[in-house]
Formats: sequence, C-alpha cells, structure tokens
Amino acid sequence: MTAAERDRTPVLCGLGSWVPPHVVTNDDLARELDTSDEWIRRRTGIAERRVVEPGTATSDLAVEAGMRALKSAALESVDAVIVATTTPDQPCPATAPLVAARLGLGPVAAFDVGAVCTGFLYGLAAAAGLITSRTAGTVLVIGADTYSTVLDPADRTTRAIFGDGAGAVILRTGSPDEDGAIGPTLLASDGSGSDLIRISSGGSRDPIRAETADQADPFFRMEGQSVFRGAMLHMAEAARTVAEWQGWGVADIDMLVAHQANVRILHAVADRMGLDRERCHVHLDRVGNTAAASIPLALADAVTHGGLRPGHRVVATAFGGGLTWGASAFRWPDITPS
Ligand code: COA
Repeated sequence: MTAAERDRTPVLCGLGSWVPPHVVTNDDLARELDTSDEWIRRRTGIAERRVVEPGTATSDLAVEAGMRALKSAALESVDAVIVATTTPDQPCPATAPLVAARLGLGPVAAFDVGAVCTGFLYGLAAAAGLITSRTAGTVLVIGADTYSTVLDPADRTTRAIFGDGAGAVILRTGSPDEDGAIGPTLLASDGSGSDLIRISSGGSRDPIRAETADQADPFFRMEGQSVFRGAMLHMAEAARTVAEWQGWGVADIDMLVAHQANVRILHAVADRMGLDRERCHVHLDRVGNTAAASIPLALADAVTHGGLRPGHRVVATAFGGGLTWGASAFRWPDITPS
C-alpha cells in the first residue's frame, strides 16, 4: 500500500440516531390483531417498536439522524450523502438529494441505495469506495426506513416485527491503523430468492392502475421461516469471513452487531460462530426490526447501553431482501453518538 493509499482509508468519525417518539407495545398490537405480548416476546424478543405518525416520511427521520451524525463528527458539511432505504419518500426521485438539501449541504453528490435490511452495509461500502477513489473526502451514510407505511394492517407477523427509525455515520479519510478504519467488507446477493421478501405491486412489473387496483398487493410480504434460515446461515458465514480477513479469530471479536431481525436469529448466529451470546448486541427489544436503520441504531445503543468502547473489535453483519447479505469489520473509534 502506498503512502497516498494509506491516507485514503475510510474512517468512521460520527454517529447519529433517531427514532420517532410514538411507541407501539405488543399489548397495543394485541388490541387490534390476533396476537399477544407473550407470543411476540417468546418468538421474536421484541417488546415494543417506534412508528411514525401519518404524514411523517423516511426523509424526516433521515434528516434527524443526519443532523446528529454531523454534530457527533463536529462537521457542518460533507462531500456526499448516501441514503440506504427501501421505503423512500416516493419512487422518484431518490430521497438522498432531498435530505442533503434539508441538511443545508449544498450541491453535494447524493443518491439512494436499495438493499433492504443490508442497505446500510451496502451504503457503507459505497461510501468507502467514494473515499478511496478520491470522489469524496467525507461521506454521510444514513440508513432510514419507515416500514410501518408499507405493512398490511391485518398482518400480525410483519406488524409484530417491524419498526421505524434512522441511523447515520460519517466516514472521513484516514489511515488503516486508526480506530474506526473500515476493514474488510463482504457484500453478496442471491436474486433467486427475491420473492421471499417483497412488495409485489407498485413497480414496473405490476404498476398500480385504476382498472386493476383491486388485484394489486401494495404491502410488504415475507416468507418468515425461509428468511429466518437464510439470515442465520449467511450472517454467521459473512461475519466469520470478514473477521478472518481482518486476522481475527472468533474469540477476538468484542462485539457482533448483527441486523436486528429476531433475537432467536441473533442467538443462532452467535452459536453457529462459536461466539459467546453476550457479545452479540441486542437492541430489537425496544425498536424491532428497523431495516436499513438497524445496524447504526444498534451501534448507537451499544455505545450508550452496551459497553462498546474505543478500540473494541466490532463485526457488523446483515441479511435482507434481494436476497442480500454482508459484513464489515472495524475497531470502534472514540466517538460520542448524538
Ligand atoms: N402472533 C401470534 N401468532 C403468530 C404471529 C403473531 N404475531 N405471527 C405469526 N404467528 C403464527 C403463524 O400464523 C403460525 O400459525 P399457524 O401455525 O396457525 O399457521 C404460527 O405462528 C407459527 O408460525 P411460524 O412462521 O412457524 O413462526 P416462527 O416461529 O417461524 O416465527 C417469525 C415467525 C416471522 C417471527 C420468524 O420466522 C422470523 O423472525 N423470521 C425472520 C423475519 C425477519 O427478520 N425478516 C426481515 C428480513 S431479515
């Protein structure tokens, strides 16, 4: 690696998070649907989730998280904004330019990444690429989703799992020896499983038109058990692989920050890796599955409540619709989430 390349290593330098204030408990859901607090806690580990009020869009959450990440990094501007989301404000245009404008960032590069629950890791890798290619010196990466806006109100399974939120990090240029330097990253997909997590109507395959609207299905659908298996297998494998690429054994990992899908998935991932379950951070009990926001929200919670400290060896991993999955390894930097 040349000296110039060493100076272009992407390094984490800010972290912000935001969840909407409205709490929906399991008992709230049980008043509307055939479910119970006992079933949801036992089968998912989730106790409550946050849900936006009607009229609040994904960009509203993204702006809040972005503002806090800028504050955490003590920066007023960045060179590029990436928003990872599959619940954009509207199908066209992308949400990121709107977020950049509302943050007062000027005419910066801004685009969305759509990789469902793996979106944040795809966004992080894209941001790292912008830095190493000298396209940008600082990048704001926001994972933001409002799945409550695409769930079938009558579907007890998805309504029990998903919540809304946004989390954001900032990458700057630095050196590979620093805490926060983004280490090896793995990204993968398998489109043959694209029907396992889907919104069938409203895209180019099945546009919603007045004459066929009664046959359209505009809601998010998921094949829970297949997704469960895929999430467990791919997150464990991806996490183990990036740790190996980084030169860490499983015992060297201080904290696994895995996509917060279901506490049984998190425990199964830890068990498959041979990692102590205590090292796998759990945040979903309070927010559910927040899709692209899940990893940055879990990182912020890990710093505030989970004992994540500068120098700790972290592996982040995710799995989601596409199918997509990935993982990244880094040592935690000395940053205070905002
Ligand atoms: N309350 C009560 N019963 C529920 C329920 C709820 N909220 N949701 C589902 N059930 C029922 C099912 O209808 C089914 O009933 P049936 O046997 O009469 O058909 C029963 O519980 C068992 O369903 P099953 O799918 O076998 O349960 P499970 O233990 O696999 O748990 C999930 C279901 C969805 C919680 C689990 O599969 C999961 O977490 N999958 C991954 C989801 C995910 O994270 N997706 C995001 C992308 S990564």
